[in-house]
Amino acid sequence: MATPIAGNVQRSEAVEAVLEELLASMTWEQKLAQLQIAFRPRLEDAKDLARGGIGAVFWPRSAEATNELQRTAREETPHGIPLLVGLDVVHGQRTTFPVPLAQAASFDPAVAGADARISAKEAASGGVNWTFSPMVDVSRDPRWGRVVEGFGEDTHVNSVFGAAKIRGYQGESLANEDSILACAKHFVAYGQAEGGRDYNTVDVSVQRLRNVYLEPFRAAVEAGAATVMAAFNTVSGRPAHANGNLLTELLKEEWGFEGVVVGDADGVVNLIEHGVAANLGDALQQSYAAGLDVEMGGNAVSVDGVALLSPGDVSSERVDDAVRRVLRLKHALALFDNPYRDAALEVTAPSAETRLAAREAAEKCLVLLKNDDGVLPLVASRLRVLLVGPYAESNDHLGAWVQSFAEPAGTLADSIQAECPDWSLTVKEGTGFFQEDPALLADAVSSAEQHDVIVVAVGEPSSLTGEASSRSDLRLPGGQEELIRAIAGTGKPFAVVMFNGRPLVTSAWIDSAPTVLEAWHLGLEGPAAVARALSGQVNPGGRLPMTFPRSSSQVPIHYDHENTGRPATVSARMDEDVVDVALMGPGNTDDRYTSKYRDLPLGPQFAFGHGLSYTSFGYGQIQVEKEELALEDLREGRVFRLDIALSNTGDRSGDEVTLLFIRDRVASLAQPVRRLRAFSRTTLDAGQTELLSFDLGWSDLGFWDNQGRYVVEPGEFEVHIGGGLENNAHTVVRLT
Ligand code: BGC
Repeated sequence: MATPIAGNVQRSEAVEAVLEELLASMTWEQKLAQLQIAFRPRLEDAKDLARGGIGAVFWPRSAEATNELQRTAREETPHGIPLLVGLDVVHGQRTTFPVPLAQAASFDPAVAGADARISAKEAASGGVNWTFSPMVDVSRDPRWGRVVEGFGEDTHVNSVFGAAKIRGYQGESLANEDSILACAKHFVAYGQAEGGRDYNTVDVSVQRLRNVYLEPFRAAVEAGAATVMAAFNTVSGRPAHANGNLLTELLKEEWGFEGVVVGDADGVVNLIEHGVAANLGDALQQSYAAGLDVEMGGNAVSVDGVALLSPGDVSSERVDDAVRRVLRLKHALALFDNPYRDAALEVTAPSAETRLAAREAAEKCLVLLKNDDGVLPLVASRLRVLLVGPYAESNDHLGAWVQSFAEPAGTLADSIQAECPDWSLTVKEGTGFFQEDPALLADAVSSAEQHDVIVVAVGEPSSLTGEASSRSDLRLPGGQEELIRAIAGTGKPFAVVMFNGRPLVTSAWIDSAPTVLEAWHLGLEGPAAVARALSGQVNPGGRLPMTFPRSSSQVPIHYDHENTGRPATVSARMDEDVVDVALMGPGNTDDRYTSKYRDLPLGPQFAFGHGLSYTSFGYGQIQVEKEELALEDLREGRVFRLDIALSNTGDRSGDEVTLLFIRDRVASLAQPVRRLRAFSRTTLDAGQTELLSFDLGWSDLGFWDNQGRYVVEPGEFEVHIGGGLENNAHTVVRLT
């Protein structure tokens, strides 16, 4: 029977026969050479690798150079096997889209889909056929710099956005010239690095591993991800690169993954430092035996064809299996037919069309955190606007994981000039990113007097985000908090715009700022999107995909925590539900012996799902078709159908993100107080109402137990539907 290999490519007997013939003619060294990808920035060095029969290389920076490498592989090696050509195309190649965390804030998977499709077209035109993206590591600790690369703290959001990226990269068919292989990474639980310190140890229970960290990978495999990357970290003491329970038993056997498992950069070599391998040969042997197919680093076979492992170090069945997986993907990409790309058609710059797509994406990712006095939007004409802060004239908008050749972004000051031509704009720095400068501060403050409104553009430079960029202190760096407080002291209306790649701690100034717009690192068109939101041409509709803590010591903090035996709650009861203050925001409790910090108000600064709009929305009651279902019927495919009316109750059009959470009231394992099971984003005109429908079925109401079994237990499930975690419409459904 045909089994999908990747995307919607089915295994074919004809291709298998060709592969078997090829495999039978390969030597041990030639096979192992296929099982590595090496970094060699110089084209001449990469050509030596290609001549040596290597399976994969990093992209040599142009279609022409890639063609040269492919020609070397095709014409100067005994078997003429084309190359996989990999690159981290994470949120854009030439046209940079918002960082993935910002994309998640859109709660619109089409944003991720558009990024991936355009990225694939641009990258493939230059000969890239493999991206190391998406990262679907659930991230609950903002100290970890890599939170910027993924889709935030929620498992379902990571699953949905990861799948959207994979489909976008891989396109309709992998054989199309504009399709590239996707890679779900980092397998697995990398986001739970202790202390949020990159590469640190991960120790995780089976149920948390299954319910939280593995689910987005399962969704990625279901979406047809061609490759999966092993994580740097250990899981229960065993580094992922050499973890046979994860790579073979779970990923390949239990889930039936037919694609390629690639190592992370030097992840195999790192087994020596981890202290589980005695030397490189040992590390390679353990990794391949555990189920790794391609080593990243190029350590398996040297340029002159000497293999570090001998036959017998790893079983020939395992090596053949890995080589088959690599060759199958090369077939699926149609590289054996044509590995070359027309250099004249290489995309080397964004087009008007891709810029527009990037701008529309950026606009959807903006989150209005506060707008107390309705400072935004700035709609009056002839406004005297003072723009201050280190992000006023910075072009650091592309965010982490962009390549040096990505088209640079402009500045916010330039975009305001272009998008809001009738404002009278003055620009002052106010402070540097890292240095406090009293003279700059005094200049900004004295200028404030001559202006109607001040926009304070602050943030965290992208160099502080991404890999190896963990932070222990989540506040704005340098003198930026001081700048905000000084502007607040002028008594002038002002809006803070934050550009950052992780949740930041804002407690030192948040109460003094009436209006705060979260603008992340939104990519090439980020500044234009922000200018359009400030002036009301765009109505922000994004929501936080990660909790913003009150203090760096409050992390990890996430909305879907278990209740504990002593939850900190207020005693008020709402329709028999104890209100969970940890969800509901500030407010303290008199009960001392409950789970909380004595020196912090309960709950986060801004909860997961928080976000305002220039208009307002209202929800009706939840209508349930059938409140009770038998477990067996649910297993057979019956669902709870829930309908709710959503209205735009304000006076302008806008987007509402609707979130559906469940809570399993009594279960054999302590369950999260809320679990997101569905979301949607709806555009409504002023006064418009739409009926939203959601289905909850077998895969929504169960959980993985500590034996690794998926269980659905009878009982009552609360369903909460609304625009965030607070004040939601709710109902109860029953499974009997
Ligand atoms: C990162 C991966 C990336 C790889 C290749 C590593 O350091 O952890 O996410 O894909 O480098 O660039």
